Amino acid sequence: MYYTEEQIEKVRSGSDIVQIIGRYVNLKRSGSGYVGLCPFHSEKTPSFSVNPARQMYKCFGCGVAGSVITFVMEYENYTFPEAMQFLAEQAGIELPKTELTPEQKRQKNLRSTLVQINAKAAAYYYAKLKSPGGKQGYDYFKNRGLSDETIMHFGLGYSGQGGRELYGYLKNQGYSDRELSETGLFKIDEHGAYDKFWNRVMFPIMDINNRVIGFGGRVMGDAKPKYLNSPETILFNKSKNLFGLNYAKLGKRKNIILCEGYMDVIALHQAGFTNAVASLGTAFTSEQAVILKRYTDEVLLTYDSDAAGIKAALRAIPMLRDAGINARVIHMDPYKDPDEFIKALGNEEFEKRINDAQNAFLFEIEVLRKNYDITDPEQKTKFDHEMARKLLVFEDKVQRDNYIETLSAKYSIKKEDLRGLVIKNANMASSRTKKTFSQSDGYQKNGRKPKEKGIEYSYKLLLSWLVDSPELFGKVSDIVGREDFEEEPYKKAAELLYEQFEKGEVIPARIVNHFEEADEQKEIADIFQTTFKVNMNSDEKERALNELVFKIKEYSIDKKLKNLTDITKLQSLMIEKNKIQNRDKMHISLKDG
Ligand code: UTP
Ligand code: MN
Repeated sequence: MYYTEEQIEKVRSGSDIVQIIGRYVNLKRSGSGYVGLCPFHSEKTPSFSVNPARQMYKCFGCGVAGSVITFVMEYENYTFPEAMQFLAEQAGIELPKTELTPEQKRQKNLRSTLVQINAKAAAYYYAKLKSPGGKQGYDYFKNRGLSDETIMHFGLGYSGQGGRELYGYLKNQGYSDRELSETGLFKIDEHGAYDKFWNRVMFPIMDINNRVIGFGGRVMGDAKPKYLNSPETILFNKSKNLFGLNYAKLGKRKNIILCEGYMDVIALHQAGFTNAVASLGTAFTSEQAVILKRYTDEVLLTYDSDAAGIKAALRAIPMLRDAGINARVIHMDPYKDPDEFIKALGNEEFEKRINDAQNAFLFEIEVLRKNYDITDPEQKTKFDHEMARKLLVFEDKVQRDNYIETLSAKYSIKKEDLRGLVIKNANMASSRTKKTFSQSDGYQKNGRKPKEKGIEYSYKLLLSWLVDSPELFGKVSDIVGREDFEEEPYKKAAELLYEQFEKGEVIPARIVNHFEEADEQKEIADIFQTTFKVNMNSDEKERALNELVFKIKEYSIDKKLKNLTDITKLQSLMIEKNKIQNRDKMHISLKDG
């Protein structure tokens, strides 16, 4: 560990939690504490509370909780030492410089090593682009209309033709194969080591703190794949970062432009639209929507105008809506994407398209409408019903009425008829979730309730026991392996947690972030909220733990037996089953070490 308990406490107590969190979250006084909208999940009514007396925060919606240090770690995507440094600096606390050799430092923190390697790789690619050997790449960018200033601003580069140039360069700087392979920039096996990227123009991907976390590389011709991206690494989480956000977050514009590609972002920034961002070669996620909500209330979608782009936009819109973001769609026809649009018509025309951007819900309905031939009364009826069903996303009655008004005019259906259909659909939806429309003038989007007391409850209990008493992990995992958790979301949670245990680094907050659905996040966060301060003596505890382990193992074996497809597995399952029935053979003792 880098810091002593004393130093940690000094930083924690020297940082006023209300003041620090208040910089990120709009906090309002409530009783003896403060409340605000949770920055870690999407919500419209505040369930995030900060308790100044205890110097803790907790979200009653998603379950995240912690101290000022964990807040900064989670929000800024910092490691523990980084969060310490960040807070110490602001509190004017001097932290001792760690006296380690560069080599020791490197070993100590793989993560910061990866940051270093990525930065060096980016610098290497950039220098290459600017060298005679990089002319092809440089010309490519120039032909695409990028200025030298833009190339430098985004740190664009060229990966050279050698196939192992970057490897040789970094190896010379003293990095080990293990470190290099963790970056995802190389293919290292018994046949040798190769650069993943060669003869491609390179786009460094930065996190919100301007650290290079990965790369996209584009071929300069028509070869496939057009773009190659770094794989996910401990630094590079594709669902939690956005290309261009490090710059967009500084902008003064009131909204953020979300596009599909790196080139679109770059072209937009060059044209003065410095509020453009893009996802990272993967579909937009709800985690990214929650992150965008930190910076803006309005997102303008500029997805490609082809079928794939429309589909992607239809996927993104509900996620943005759930995050409390108002979305609008920029139409770029007759051009394919913002890059082509700006090149052809310039930024003033694009500014006009921004002003004309279409309300996202009306866009959704317009796309829906194309599936029907509304001159046919049968199909028009179906369309009307579908439109009414879609209107259920609006919980606010006034808002819903305003949409009903607009749609009824646009798609020639009487207002009262459309409203009637909406109510009918709402009642159907709510009877499924055992809630009537009249009670709430609302409905539940999904009636999924966490099942308690069943096997899920046992999973939750065992996992939280492990988090509480990590020393038990070895013994428990000898009997209950990760494959013995049969039901989601615990199956995935167990997998992630076991992995962290094996690495010796348990960071529950990171596990929670792997779950996209708010319900799931809540269930998983619960695992880390339950603490085992129960009044049991050690014998009772031992019995309870063994019961739990037995129950989970038995459930798993039974389930595997039930779904058996491979008859050769039968015997080994039966042996396991016998073993657990003969309880002595799998008893966990809490006494010996
Ligand atoms: P596009 O195919 O729309 O490319 O992919 P683009 O941004 O217009 O690129 P240019 O203008 O031809 O250079 C959009 C995004 O999808 C990802 C990349 O992130 C790209 O920016 N993508 C695309 C890949 O990851 N791999 C591919 O093979 C293609
Ligand atoms: Mn393009």
